[in-house]
Amino acid sequence: MAKLIVTGGKTLCGEVRLQTSKNATLALLAAGVLSEDKVTFLEVPDISDVNHMLCILRSMGAKTRYNGSALTVDYTQITPMVFEESCGKVRASVFLLGPLVGRFRQAELLAPGGCNIGARPLDIHAHIFQKLGCTYLQGERIRVQGEKLVGNKIRLRMPSVGATVNAVCAAVKAEGETVIENVAREPEICDLVAFLRKMGAKIQGEGTPQMIIQGVKKLHGTTYLPQRDRIEGGTFLAAMAITGGEGVILGVKPSYFSPVLEIFLKTACKIQCEDDKIYIRGKKSLAKGVSIKTGPYPGFPTDMQSVMIPVLTKCSSQSTLTETLFENRFSCALELTKMGANISVQKNVAFIRPSCLYGATVTAKDLRAAAGLAVGALAAEGESEILEMEHLLRGYENFQGKLSALGAKLEMFY
Ligand code: EPZ
Repeated sequence: MAKLIVTGGKTLCGEVRLQTSKNATLALLAAGVLSEDKVTFLEVPDISDVNHMLCILRSMGAKTRYNGSALTVDYTQITPMVFEESCGKVRASVFLLGPLVGRFRQAELLAPGGCNIGARPLDIHAHIFQKLGCTYLQGERIRVQGEKLVGNKIRLRMPSVGATVNAVCAAVKAEGETVIENVAREPEICDLVAFLRKMGAKIQGEGTPQMIIQGVKKLHGTTYLPQRDRIEGGTFLAAMAITGGEGVILGVKPSYFSPVLEIFLKTACKIQCEDDKIYIRGKKSLAKGVSIKTGPYPGFPTDMQSVMIPVLTKCSSQSTLTETLFENRFSCALELTKMGANISVQKNVAFIRPSCLYGATVTAKDLRAAAGLAVGALAAEGESEILEMEHLLRGYENFQGKLSALGAKLEMFY
Protein backbone atom coordinates (compact mmCIF):
# COMPACT_ATOMS: atom_id res chain seq x y z
CA MET A 1 0.00 0.00 0.00
CA ALA A 2 1.79 3.14 -1.21
CA LYS A 3 1.17 6.48 0.50
CA LEU A 4 2.33 10.03 -0.23
CA ILE A 5 3.05 12.49 2.58
CA VAL A 6 2.91 16.10 1.38
CA THR A 7 3.79 19.27 3.31
CA GLY A 8 1.79 21.99 1.57
CA GLY A 9 2.54 25.67 1.07
CA LYS A 10 5.65 25.44 -1.06
CA THR A 11 5.73 27.48 -4.29
CA LEU A 12 6.66 25.26 -7.20
CA CYS A 13 9.04 26.64 -9.82
CA GLY A 14 11.14 25.11 -12.57
CA GLU A 15 11.15 22.97 -15.67
CA VAL A 16 9.57 19.53 -16.23
CA ARG A 17 10.49 17.22 -19.09
CA LEU A 18 7.47 15.01 -19.61
CA GLN A 19 7.40 11.21 -19.84
CA THR A 20 6.18 9.59 -23.03
CA SER A 21 2.43 9.18 -23.08
CA LYS A 22 1.04 6.29 -21.01
CA ASN A 23 -2.02 5.95 -23.24
CA ALA A 24 -0.07 6.16 -26.50
CA THR A 25 2.53 3.64 -25.27
CA LEU A 26 -0.14 1.14 -24.17
CA ALA A 27 -1.90 1.33 -27.55
CA LEU A 28 1.40 0.94 -29.45
CA LEU A 29 2.53 -2.04 -27.34
CA ALA A 30 -0.71 -3.77 -28.35
CA ALA A 31 -0.53 -2.70 -32.00
CA GLY A 32 3.01 -4.10 -32.26
CA VAL A 33 1.38 -7.56 -32.44
CA LEU A 34 0.55 -6.74 -36.07
CA SER A 35 4.25 -6.47 -36.98
CA GLU A 36 4.88 -10.24 -36.57
CA ASP A 37 8.39 -8.93 -36.01
CA LYS A 38 10.53 -6.99 -33.55
CA VAL A 39 9.55 -3.45 -32.53
CA THR A 40 11.66 -1.03 -30.46
CA PHE A 41 9.84 1.58 -28.38
CA LEU A 42 11.97 4.52 -27.20
CA GLU A 43 11.84 6.21 -23.78
CA VAL A 44 9.21 3.83 -22.40
CA PRO A 45 7.82 5.23 -19.11
CA ASP A 46 8.51 3.13 -16.00
CA ILE A 47 4.88 2.84 -14.85
CA SER A 48 2.90 -0.15 -13.65
CA ASP A 49 0.35 -0.10 -16.48
CA VAL A 50 3.20 -0.65 -18.96
CA ASN A 51 4.62 -3.43 -16.76
CA HIS A 52 1.20 -5.14 -16.65
CA MET A 53 0.94 -4.86 -20.45
CA LEU A 54 4.38 -6.48 -20.82
CA CYS A 55 3.30 -9.34 -18.50
CA ILE A 56 0.34 -9.95 -20.79
CA LEU A 57 2.48 -9.85 -23.95
CA ARG A 58 5.06 -12.21 -22.46
CA SER A 59 2.27 -14.63 -21.47
CA MET A 60 1.29 -14.68 -25.15
CA GLY A 61 4.83 -15.60 -26.26
CA ALA A 62 6.41 -12.19 -26.81
CA LYS A 63 10.04 -11.66 -25.79
CA THR A 64 10.92 -8.31 -24.22
CA ARG A 65 14.32 -6.69 -23.65
CA TYR A 66 15.17 -3.28 -22.19
CA ASN A 67 18.25 -1.31 -23.16
CA GLY A 68 18.00 1.64 -20.79
CA SER A 69 14.54 3.12 -21.46
CA ALA A 70 14.41 1.61 -24.96
CA LEU A 71 12.30 -1.53 -25.05
CA THR A 72 12.45 -4.13 -27.82
CA VAL A 73 9.48 -6.49 -28.08
CA ASP A 74 9.76 -9.57 -30.30
CA TYR A 75 6.20 -10.37 -31.40
CA THR A 76 7.23 -13.25 -33.70
CA GLN A 77 5.98 -16.09 -31.50
CA ILE A 78 2.78 -14.41 -30.26
CA THR A 79 -0.33 -16.62 -29.87
CA PRO A 80 -3.90 -15.22 -29.98
CA MET A 81 -5.02 -16.57 -26.62
CA VAL A 82 -4.31 -14.67 -23.41
CA PHE A 83 -4.66 -16.32 -20.01
CA GLU A 84 -2.67 -13.76 -18.03
CA GLU A 85 -4.43 -12.42 -14.92
CA SER A 86 -2.93 -8.98 -15.63
CA CYS A 87 -5.64 -8.47 -18.26
CA GLY A 88 -7.95 -7.71 -15.38
CA LYS A 89 -5.65 -5.01 -14.05
CA VAL A 90 -5.56 -2.64 -17.00
CA ARG A 91 -8.11 -1.27 -19.44
CA ALA A 92 -5.52 -1.34 -22.22
CA SER A 93 -5.58 -5.17 -22.40
CA VAL A 94 -8.71 -4.72 -24.54
CA PHE A 95 -6.49 -2.90 -27.06
CA LEU A 96 -5.09 -6.35 -27.91
CA LEU A 97 -8.32 -7.54 -29.51
CA GLY A 98 -7.94 -5.54 -32.73
CA PRO A 99 -4.28 -6.44 -33.38
CA LEU A 100 -4.89 -10.15 -32.60
CA VAL A 101 -7.94 -10.29 -34.87
CA GLY A 102 -6.01 -8.40 -37.55
CA ARG A 103 -3.16 -10.92 -37.38
CA PHE A 104 -4.90 -14.22 -36.49
CA ARG A 105 -8.59 -13.63 -37.30
CA GLN A 106 -9.24 -14.58 -33.68
CA ALA A 107 -8.58 -13.40 -30.13
CA GLU A 108 -9.42 -14.53 -26.63
CA LEU A 109 -8.58 -12.73 -23.41
CA LEU A 110 -9.86 -11.97 -19.93
CA ALA A 111 -12.22 -8.99 -19.77
CA PRO A 112 -10.21 -5.81 -19.08
CA GLY A 113 -9.84 -3.92 -15.78
CA GLY A 114 -8.68 -0.34 -15.32
CA CYS A 115 -9.76 2.67 -13.26
CA ASN A 116 -13.07 2.33 -11.42
CA ILE A 117 -14.59 5.41 -13.10
CA GLY A 118 -17.71 3.97 -14.63
CA ALA A 119 -19.34 0.93 -16.24
CA ARG A 120 -17.01 1.11 -19.26
CA PRO A 121 -18.99 -1.28 -21.51
CA LEU A 122 -17.52 -2.74 -24.71
CA ASP A 123 -20.55 -2.61 -27.03
CA ILE A 124 -18.79 -0.34 -29.55
CA HIS A 125 -15.85 -2.76 -29.71
CA ALA A 126 -18.29 -5.63 -30.34
CA HIS A 127 -20.02 -3.65 -33.11
CA ILE A 128 -16.73 -3.07 -34.91
CA PHE A 129 -15.73 -6.75 -34.98
CA GLN A 130 -19.21 -7.79 -36.10
CA LYS A 131 -19.09 -5.22 -38.95
CA LEU A 132 -15.75 -6.72 -40.05
CA GLY A 133 -17.28 -10.21 -40.24
CA CYS A 134 -16.42 -11.64 -36.81
CA THR A 135 -18.40 -13.19 -33.98
CA TYR A 136 -17.97 -11.49 -30.59
CA LEU A 137 -18.70 -13.29 -27.31
CA GLN A 138 -18.22 -11.64 -23.93
CA GLY A 139 -18.42 -13.15 -20.46
CA GLU A 140 -15.53 -13.38 -18.03
CA ARG A 141 -13.49 -13.83 -21.18
CA ILE A 142 -13.88 -12.13 -24.53
CA ARG A 143 -13.75 -14.27 -27.68
CA VAL A 144 -13.60 -12.83 -31.19
CA GLN A 145 -13.52 -15.15 -34.21
CA GLY A 146 -13.71 -14.53 -37.96
CA GLU A 147 -13.04 -16.77 -40.95
CA LYS A 148 -12.35 -13.68 -43.01
CA LEU A 149 -11.89 -10.04 -42.09
CA VAL A 150 -13.66 -7.97 -44.73
CA GLY A 151 -13.40 -4.17 -44.92
CA ASN A 152 -16.66 -2.33 -44.30
CA LYS A 153 -18.20 1.05 -43.50
CA ILE A 154 -18.43 1.41 -39.71
CA ARG A 155 -19.91 4.24 -37.66
CA LEU A 156 -19.01 4.45 -33.97
CA ARG A 157 -21.92 5.30 -31.65
CA MET A 158 -19.50 7.63 -29.86
CA PRO A 159 -15.81 8.40 -30.49
CA SER A 160 -14.45 5.78 -28.09
CA VAL A 161 -10.63 5.84 -27.85
CA GLY A 162 -10.28 2.13 -27.17
CA ALA A 163 -12.79 1.14 -29.80
CA THR A 164 -10.96 3.32 -32.34
CA VAL A 165 -7.69 1.56 -31.48
CA ASN A 166 -9.34 -1.81 -32.08
CA ALA A 167 -11.10 -0.72 -35.26
CA VAL A 168 -7.92 0.66 -36.83
CA CYS A 169 -5.76 -2.31 -35.80
CA ALA A 170 -8.22 -4.86 -37.18
CA ALA A 171 -8.93 -2.92 -40.38
CA VAL A 172 -5.26 -2.50 -41.39
CA LYS A 173 -5.18 -6.26 -42.16
CA ALA A 174 -8.77 -6.65 -43.45
CA GLU A 175 -9.51 -7.38 -47.12
CA GLY A 176 -10.30 -4.17 -48.96
CA GLU A 177 -11.25 -0.74 -47.68
CA THR A 178 -12.69 0.18 -44.28
CA VAL A 179 -14.25 3.58 -43.60
CA ILE A 180 -14.72 4.42 -39.92
CA GLU A 181 -16.98 7.35 -39.05
CA ASN A 182 -17.07 9.24 -35.74
CA VAL A 183 -13.64 7.98 -34.69
CA ALA A 184 -11.70 9.28 -31.68
CA ARG A 185 -9.41 12.18 -32.65
CA GLU A 186 -7.13 12.14 -29.58
CA PRO A 187 -3.41 12.85 -30.22
CA GLU A 188 -2.69 9.31 -28.99
CA ILE A 189 -4.74 7.95 -31.92
CA CYS A 190 -2.64 10.05 -34.31
CA ASP A 191 0.45 8.50 -32.71
CA LEU A 192 -0.99 5.02 -33.27
CA VAL A 193 -1.62 5.79 -36.95
CA ALA A 194 1.89 7.18 -37.43
CA PHE A 195 3.27 4.01 -35.81
CA LEU A 196 1.16 1.69 -37.99
CA ARG A 197 2.11 3.67 -41.09
CA LYS A 198 5.80 3.13 -40.23
CA MET A 199 4.99 -0.60 -40.10
CA GLY A 200 3.48 -0.43 -43.63
CA ALA A 201 -0.20 0.30 -42.99
CA LYS A 202 -2.28 2.41 -45.38
CA ILE A 203 -4.41 4.84 -43.31
CA GLN A 204 -5.81 8.33 -43.96
CA GLY A 205 -7.75 10.82 -41.88
CA GLU A 206 -6.31 10.51 -38.38
CA GLY A 207 -7.29 13.49 -36.22
CA THR A 208 -10.50 13.95 -38.24
CA PRO A 209 -13.93 12.33 -37.65
CA GLN A 210 -13.41 9.87 -40.51
CA MET A 211 -10.60 7.41 -41.18
CA ILE A 212 -10.12 5.40 -44.38
CA ILE A 213 -8.00 2.25 -44.23
CA GLN A 214 -6.79 0.05 -47.10
CA GLY A 215 -6.06 -3.44 -45.81
CA VAL A 216 -2.55 -4.84 -46.49
CA LYS A 217 -1.22 -8.40 -46.42
CA LYS A 218 1.73 -7.86 -44.12
CA LEU A 219 3.27 -5.34 -41.78
CA HIS A 220 6.83 -5.24 -40.43
CA GLY A 221 8.82 -4.10 -37.40
CA THR A 222 9.99 -0.55 -36.70
CA THR A 223 11.44 1.74 -34.05
CA TYR A 224 9.21 4.42 -32.58
CA LEU A 225 9.25 7.27 -30.03
CA PRO A 226 5.71 7.97 -28.75
CA GLN A 227 4.57 11.54 -28.04
CA ARG A 228 4.90 12.99 -24.55
CA ASP A 229 2.15 12.66 -21.97
CA ARG A 230 -0.22 15.64 -22.23
CA ILE A 231 -2.12 14.65 -19.06
CA GLU A 232 1.11 14.47 -17.04
CA GLY A 233 1.87 17.90 -18.50
CA GLY A 234 -1.48 19.26 -17.39
CA THR A 235 -0.90 17.82 -13.93
CA PHE A 236 2.33 19.77 -13.50
CA LEU A 237 0.76 22.95 -14.91
CA ALA A 238 -1.95 22.57 -12.23
CA ALA A 239 0.69 22.02 -9.51
CA MET A 240 2.51 25.23 -10.47
CA ALA A 241 -0.76 27.17 -10.88
CA ILE A 242 -2.27 26.24 -7.50
CA THR A 243 0.94 27.01 -5.56
CA GLY A 244 1.41 30.42 -7.24
CA GLY A 245 4.59 29.16 -8.86
CA GLU A 246 5.88 29.36 -12.38
CA GLY A 247 7.65 27.09 -14.79
CA VAL A 248 7.77 25.28 -18.08
CA ILE A 249 6.65 21.86 -19.23
CA LEU A 250 8.69 20.50 -22.13
CA GLY A 251 7.92 18.14 -24.97
CA VAL A 252 4.19 18.51 -25.59
CA LYS A 253 2.49 20.50 -28.37
CA PRO A 254 0.37 23.37 -26.96
CA SER A 255 -2.25 22.60 -29.64
CA TYR A 256 -2.97 19.33 -27.77
CA PHE A 257 -3.99 21.42 -24.80
CA SER A 258 -6.11 24.30 -26.02
CA PRO A 259 -9.20 23.80 -23.78
CA VAL A 260 -6.95 23.26 -20.72
CA LEU A 261 -4.79 26.32 -21.42
CA GLU A 262 -7.97 28.35 -21.95
CA ILE A 263 -9.10 27.49 -18.42
CA PHE A 264 -5.74 28.45 -16.91
CA LEU A 265 -5.92 31.77 -18.78
CA LYS A 266 -9.51 32.42 -17.66
CA THR A 267 -8.46 31.89 -14.02
CA ALA A 268 -5.79 34.61 -14.52
CA CYS A 269 -2.74 32.38 -14.79
CA LYS A 270 -0.17 33.64 -17.28
CA ILE A 271 0.44 31.20 -20.16
CA GLN A 272 3.04 31.42 -22.94
CA CYS A 273 3.49 28.76 -25.63
CA GLU A 274 6.20 28.08 -28.19
CA ASP A 275 6.90 24.92 -30.24
CA ASP A 276 6.77 22.14 -27.62
CA LYS A 277 7.08 24.31 -24.51
CA ILE A 278 4.32 25.71 -22.27
CA TYR A 279 5.16 28.34 -19.65
CA ILE A 280 2.77 29.03 -16.78
CA ARG A 281 2.77 31.53 -13.92
CA GLY A 282 0.13 30.74 -11.31
CA LYS A 283 -1.48 32.76 -8.51
CA LYS A 284 -2.52 31.69 -5.03
CA SER A 285 -5.76 33.64 -5.54
CA LEU A 286 -7.29 33.15 -8.95
CA ALA A 287 -9.95 35.08 -10.87
CA LYS A 288 -13.68 34.34 -10.86
CA GLY A 289 -14.91 30.80 -11.33
CA VAL A 290 -15.26 29.04 -14.70
CA SER A 291 -17.56 26.50 -16.29
CA ILE A 292 -15.96 23.34 -17.72
CA LYS A 293 -17.56 20.47 -19.63
CA THR A 294 -15.45 17.43 -20.45
CA GLY A 295 -15.76 15.80 -23.86
CA PRO A 296 -13.97 13.73 -26.50
CA TYR A 297 -10.96 15.42 -28.12
CA PRO A 298 -10.70 18.30 -28.98
CA GLY A 299 -12.91 18.98 -25.94
CA PHE A 300 -11.68 19.40 -22.36
CA PRO A 301 -10.05 16.03 -21.53
CA THR A 302 -11.86 13.96 -18.91
CA ASP A 303 -8.44 12.84 -17.64
CA MET A 304 -7.72 16.43 -16.61
CA GLN A 305 -10.86 17.04 -14.52
CA SER A 306 -9.61 15.52 -11.25
CA VAL A 307 -6.44 17.55 -11.56
CA MET A 308 -8.20 20.84 -12.38
CA ILE A 309 -10.79 20.68 -9.58
CA PRO A 310 -8.32 21.56 -6.74
CA VAL A 311 -7.09 24.53 -8.80
CA LEU A 312 -10.67 25.83 -9.10
CA THR A 313 -10.95 26.03 -5.27
CA LYS A 314 -8.57 29.03 -5.61
CA CYS A 315 -11.03 30.97 -7.82
CA SER A 316 -12.90 33.92 -6.26
CA SER A 317 -16.35 32.53 -7.14
CA GLN A 318 -18.08 29.22 -7.88
CA SER A 319 -16.98 27.03 -10.80
CA THR A 320 -18.89 24.14 -12.32
CA LEU A 321 -17.40 21.03 -13.91
CA THR A 322 -19.65 18.71 -15.92
CA GLU A 323 -18.28 15.22 -16.60
CA THR A 324 -19.87 13.81 -19.76
CA LEU A 325 -17.80 10.66 -20.40
CA PHE A 326 -17.65 8.64 -17.17
CA GLU A 327 -20.36 8.10 -14.57
CA ASN A 328 -18.11 7.77 -11.52
CA ARG A 329 -15.20 10.15 -11.84
CA PHE A 330 -15.67 12.62 -8.95
CA SER A 331 -13.91 10.61 -6.23
CA CYS A 332 -11.15 13.24 -6.10
CA ALA A 333 -13.67 16.07 -5.59
CA LEU A 334 -15.32 14.19 -2.72
CA GLU A 335 -11.99 13.37 -1.04
CA LEU A 336 -10.89 17.02 -1.36
CA THR A 337 -13.78 18.02 0.93
CA LYS A 338 -11.79 16.30 3.71
CA MET A 339 -9.14 18.96 3.04
CA GLY A 340 -11.76 21.67 3.51
CA ALA A 341 -12.72 22.05 -0.14
CA ASN A 342 -16.23 23.48 -0.50
CA ILE A 343 -17.39 21.13 -3.26
CA SER A 344 -20.72 19.44 -3.90
CA VAL A 345 -21.64 16.96 -6.62
CA GLN A 346 -25.08 16.58 -8.19
CA LYS A 347 -25.34 13.83 -10.82
CA ASN A 348 -22.52 14.56 -13.29
CA VAL A 349 -21.85 18.14 -12.16
CA ALA A 350 -19.36 19.27 -9.51
CA PHE A 351 -19.88 22.71 -7.93
CA ILE A 352 -16.54 24.06 -6.70
CA ARG A 353 -16.61 27.09 -4.41
CA PRO A 354 -13.71 29.19 -3.05
CA SER A 355 -11.96 27.21 -0.31
CA CYS A 356 -8.95 27.24 1.99
CA LEU A 357 -7.38 23.78 1.96
CA TYR A 358 -5.76 22.23 5.03
CA GLY A 359 -3.76 19.01 5.43
CA ALA A 360 -5.77 15.81 5.93
CA THR A 361 -5.67 12.05 5.36
CA VAL A 362 -7.38 11.19 2.06
CA THR A 363 -7.61 8.11 -0.15
CA ALA A 364 -7.01 7.88 -3.88
CA LYS A 365 -9.62 5.81 -5.73
CA ASP A 366 -8.25 6.00 -9.30
CA LEU A 367 -5.20 7.19 -11.24
CA ARG A 368 -6.21 10.79 -11.95
CA ALA A 369 -7.89 11.21 -8.55
CA ALA A 370 -4.52 10.31 -6.99
CA ALA A 371 -2.88 13.08 -9.02
CA GLY A 372 -5.66 15.55 -8.17
CA LEU A 373 -5.34 14.90 -4.43
CA ALA A 374 -1.57 15.47 -4.67
CA VAL A 375 -2.21 18.80 -6.42
CA GLY A 376 -4.65 19.82 -3.68
CA ALA A 377 -2.22 18.75 -0.93
CA LEU A 378 0.51 20.95 -2.44
CA ALA A 379 -1.65 24.01 -1.73
CA ALA A 380 -3.07 22.80 1.59
CA GLU A 381 -1.85 24.27 4.87
CA GLY A 382 0.07 21.64 6.81
CA GLU A 383 0.71 17.97 6.14
CA SER A 384 -1.48 15.64 4.07
CA GLU A 385 -1.37 11.87 3.83
CA ILE A 386 -2.68 10.36 0.58
CA LEU A 387 -3.38 6.63 0.80
CA GLU A 388 -3.60 4.01 -1.99
CA MET A 389 -1.12 5.86 -4.16
CA GLU A 390 -0.44 2.68 -6.13
CA HIS A 391 -3.13 4.14 -8.36
CA LEU A 392 -0.74 7.00 -9.17
CA LEU A 393 2.14 4.63 -9.94
CA ARG A 394 0.05 3.22 -12.80
CA GLY A 395 0.55 6.32 -14.91
CA TYR A 396 3.12 8.74 -13.52
CA GLU A 397 6.87 8.00 -13.68
CA ASN A 398 8.90 9.47 -10.79
CA PHE A 399 6.02 11.79 -9.83
CA GLN A 400 7.44 12.69 -6.42
CA GLY A 401 10.95 13.20 -7.85
CA LYS A 402 9.68 15.64 -10.46
CA LEU A 403 7.60 17.58 -7.89
CA SER A 404 10.52 17.67 -5.41
CA ALA A 405 12.71 19.12 -8.16
CA LEU A 406 10.15 21.94 -8.44
CA GLY A 407 10.43 22.66 -4.71
CA ALA A 408 7.64 20.51 -3.28
CA LYS A 409 8.15 18.84 0.10
CA LEU A 410 6.79 15.31 -0.18
CA GLU A 411 7.77 11.70 0.26
CA MET A 412 6.34 8.45 -1.14
CA PHE A 413 6.21 5.41 1.15
CA TYR A 414 5.81 1.97 -0.42
C1 EPZ B 1 -9.18 5.77 -22.84
O1 EPZ B 1 -10.03 4.88 -22.14
C2 EPZ B 1 -8.09 6.15 -21.85
N1 EPZ B 1 -7.37 4.96 -21.41
C3 EPZ B 1 -8.71 6.84 -20.63
O2 EPZ B 1 -7.63 7.29 -19.81
C4 EPZ B 1 -9.49 8.07 -21.10
O3 EPZ B 1 -10.13 8.65 -19.99
C5 EPZ B 1 -10.53 7.65 -22.15
O4 EPZ B 1 -9.89 6.96 -23.24
C6 EPZ B 1 -11.29 8.83 -22.72
O5 EPZ B 1 -10.40 9.74 -23.27
C7 EPZ B 1 -6.39 4.46 -22.20
O6 EPZ B 1 -6.10 4.97 -23.26
C8 EPZ B 1 -5.67 3.25 -21.67
P1 EPZ B 1 -13.41 5.33 -24.18
P2 EPZ B 1 -11.19 4.07 -22.95
O7 EPZ B 1 -13.65 4.02 -24.82
O8 EPZ B 1 -10.67 3.69 -24.29
C9 EPZ B 1 -17.96 4.62 -23.20
C10 EPZ B 1 -6.42 7.54 -17.83
O9 EPZ B 1 -6.69 8.15 -16.78
N2 EPZ B 1 -17.87 3.41 -24.02
O10 EPZ B 1 -13.12 6.52 -25.03
O11 EPZ B 1 -11.73 3.02 -22.06
C11 EPZ B 1 -17.19 4.46 -21.90
O12 EPZ B 1 -17.97 3.79 -20.94
C12 EPZ B 1 -7.48 6.70 -18.51
O13 EPZ B 1 -5.32 7.60 -18.43
C13 EPZ B 1 -19.04 2.68 -24.28
O14 EPZ B 1 -20.11 3.05 -23.83
O15 EPZ B 1 -12.27 5.23 -23.09
C14 EPZ B 1 -16.95 5.89 -21.51
O16 EPZ B 1 -18.11 6.38 -20.88
C15 EPZ B 1 -8.77 6.65 -17.71
N3 EPZ B 1 -18.94 1.55 -25.03
C16 EPZ B 1 -16.77 6.60 -22.86
O17 EPZ B 1 -17.32 5.71 -23.84
C17 EPZ B 1 -17.75 1.11 -25.55
O18 EPZ B 1 -17.72 0.08 -26.25
C18 EPZ B 1 -15.32 6.87 -23.22
O19 EPZ B 1 -14.67 5.63 -23.22
C19 EPZ B 1 -16.57 1.87 -25.27
C20 EPZ B 1 -16.66 3.01 -24.51
